[in-house]
Amino acid sequence: MKISVIGCGYLGAVHAASLAELGHEVIGIDVDAAKVRDLAAGQAPFFEPGLGEILQSASASGRLRFSTDMSEVRDAQVHFVAVGTPQTRGGGAADLTYVNAAIEGLLPHLSAGDLVVGKSTVPVGTAARLAARIDESGSGALLAWNPEFLREGFAVQDTIAPDRLVYGLPPGGEHREVAKRLLDEVYATALGKGTPLVETDFATAELVKVAANAFLATKISFINAMAEIAEVADADVTALADAIGYDPRIGRRFLNAGIGFGGGCLPKDIRAFSARAEELGRGESVAFLKEIDAINMRRRQRMVELVTEALGGQVYQKKVAVLGLAFKPDSDDVRDSPALDVAVQLNGLGAHVIATDPKAIPNSIRLHPQLGFATDTDDALHGADVVVLVTEWKDYRELDPVATAELVRSKVIIDGRNVLDPVAWRAAGWTYRGMGRP
Ligand code: UGA
Repeated sequence: MKISVIGCGYLGAVHAASLAELGHEVIGIDVDAAKVRDLAAGQAPFFEPGLGEILQSASASGRLRFSTDMSEVRDAQVHFVAVGTPQTRGGGAADLTYVNAAIEGLLPHLSAGDLVVGKSTVPVGTAARLAARIDESGSGALLAWNPEFLREGFAVQDTIAPDRLVYGLPPGGEHREVAKRLLDEVYATALGKGTPLVETDFATAELVKVAANAFLATKISFINAMAEIAEVADADVTALADAIGYDPRIGRRFLNAGIGFGGGCLPKDIRAFSARAEELGRGESVAFLKEIDAINMRRRQRMVELVTEALGGQVYQKKVAVLGLAFKPDSDDVRDSPALDVAVQLNGLGAHVIATDPKAIPNSIRLHPQLGFATDTDDALHGADVVVLVTEWKDYRELDPVATAELVRSKVIIDGRNVLDPVAWRAAGWTYRGMGRP
């Protein structure tokens, strides 16, 4: 099929490359000329495992192109809208500026038989409004909403082989059929492998996305709330998570307590969901999401307290080695990163912070040039008064306590992700503190 993808950020770039890899002919459109140049040269503008490889193979096949010129979407029949919906400045609601602009930009180039497919995470009710806008433009194009569930770090795999597909289809028998048929053609490979498909209406499809992220955020904050209790009761939240996780109704995944969730999705999505529910007069239905957010933010504070305690209450001019800056491993994304936040807070208290990360240093420098950075882990650890593990990259999970002890000034480590073995670290003479562990 001939497909356009509007917006080539984390979502759009991976989607465009994956669709081309699956055999479609794809044009990716973005307003950022530098990003388009990188993508067209087969270079991923951000770190995402496997993306560089499929960009190169799809570009070489001639099926994948990128442009800043919206009129190049004319030949395509299906147009994915994958632009960002960031949090509004000073508020929790989603900012729909880019979604609205993408639709307005598309309208002059649409023709009868085209399908616009929303992928961006939007407040419920947006798709119906956009469908009406497309309708009144008289192009004869249709709209569908098809939320995306990819995880950074696994984005290519999640896009090529998703765990489910959700179609929010337009009302009316014939329109519904046309939209479904086109989407089935786009996703023929995944459907052929038996990927579960939920066919529904616009509103449900929009809600599925925010409900999924709200549930995941709730799971993480639930276990972090248990960590807070475990801290005062002298219990171990990791054993607790293992024990409750064996119940298949609960499940062990997303029950890792630590400094909490961040990134470009979970924090902003729960805030936007609360804001939208309030607009709809049902704020109380998701009032708990404010508590989920508050628990999450407290974990960063707790981490700073633990470091302060470990330094005997005196942070000023102490050398703190911060291991990790990305919001999670296998990503260079520092949007709302708890790891970067902890580093910034410690720096603000006068600590001499040396932070390291395998991929996220350039993005961190752009936002917080006041921090100290070291590309080499050993350099970051050298002479440290305390070591703080805040993003669980494999390199840090596998640190050797004996060799690491040779580098630091004080053998004190705070494990903000509960991924190290306390027994091994203590045996090597370290003072080990986890989060919600004795
Ligand atoms: C999240 C969802 O998992 C995806 O399904 C969704 O498509 C995506 O948002 C999106 O809306 O686009 P992502 O932001 O890539 O994906 O990251 P997650 O793997 O969900 O991790 C989010 C945060 O939670 C990270 O900071 C991670 O460290 C933290 N986390 C995760 C925990 O603190 N504990 C856990 O047990 C799991």
